[in-house]
Amino acid sequence: MPTLRIPTAPVFRPLLEPARYKGAYGGRGSGKSHFFGELMVERCLVSPGTLAVCIREVQKSLLQSSKRLIESKIQSLGVGARFQVLHDRIVTPGDGLIIFQGMQDSTAESIKSLEGFDIAWVEEAQTLSARSLSLLRQKKPDNAVVVNANWRDNPWFPAVLEEERRLDLQLYPERYPHVWEGEYAKAFEGAYFARHLEQARQEGRICRVAVDPILPVKAFFDIGGAGHSSDAMAIWIAQFVGREIRLLDYIEGV
Ligand SMILES: Nc1ncnc2c1ncn2[C@@H]1O[C@H](COP(=O)(O)OP(=O)(O)OP(=O)(O)O)[C@@H](O)[C@H]1O
Ligand SMILES: [Mg+2]
Repeated sequence: MPTLRIPTAPVFRPLLEPARYKGAYGGRGSGKSHFFGELMVERCLVSPGTLAVCIREVQKSLLQSSKRLIESKIQSLGVGARFQVLHDRIVTPGDGLIIFQGMQDSTAESIKSLEGFDIAWVEEAQTLSARSLSLLRQKKPDNAVVVNANWRDNPWFPAVLEEERRLDLQLYPERYPHVWEGEYAKAFEGAYFARHLEQARQEGRICRVAVDPILPVKAFFDIGGAGHSSDAMAIWIAQFVGREIRLLDYIEGV
């Protein structure tokens, strides 16, 4: 068999080492899906008979699955003759199989029927519900390799995504760190203070400040509600120092 050479972005190289659990997290367009798609095809070639399942939380049709990406990788790697692409599955070398499943349509029984499978690839795992995760595993991984990848780690970052990224940075600075840099979502879109806080961050106005022992410390309560759509209660702790209002702490969800 001719050797297959697949260029891999340095950020994903630790994931080429054997590990029971492999994960990549980060912002949009960092190459996570493409990397795992290639890894899947490579693994099926190297270990004939591999049984793999591609999982999403919601998969209303195969169009929402990783099937097309895997098909395109099979083609671009020039190994089409060794795979058989069927309507809902891909037959891999040595009678192996790649199937596609949505977790919301799964039950404990249907997951158990995957016993003997070698690989589970979960795409868009940030949307996975606690129920789905516990169906897949009971314990925390002890043998895991996890990398953080973002757009600047992707040597194939396309021009259209670069355009979109710049647009987001300009028009939606409050959601940019979450979408493109893979940071936790710190504010809901449209949250009243989100834009001001992001602006303060960009202007370097968020830093460590000492409590002035002479001045009073004030607490401002933003009372939430009990309904399911209500905000959590938040408390802002502040001091008025000269012309500045120094916010010392912000406690949410109390
Ligand atoms: N190995 C690769 N070979 C060729 N192109 C690639 C490769 N990796 C990434 N790209 C390019 O970068 C783009 C973004 O990659 P990909 O879709 O894998 O990112 P992602 O991290 O899964 O993004 P998202 O978080 O939005 O799902 C792809 O559409 C493709 O154009
Ligand atoms: Mg992806």
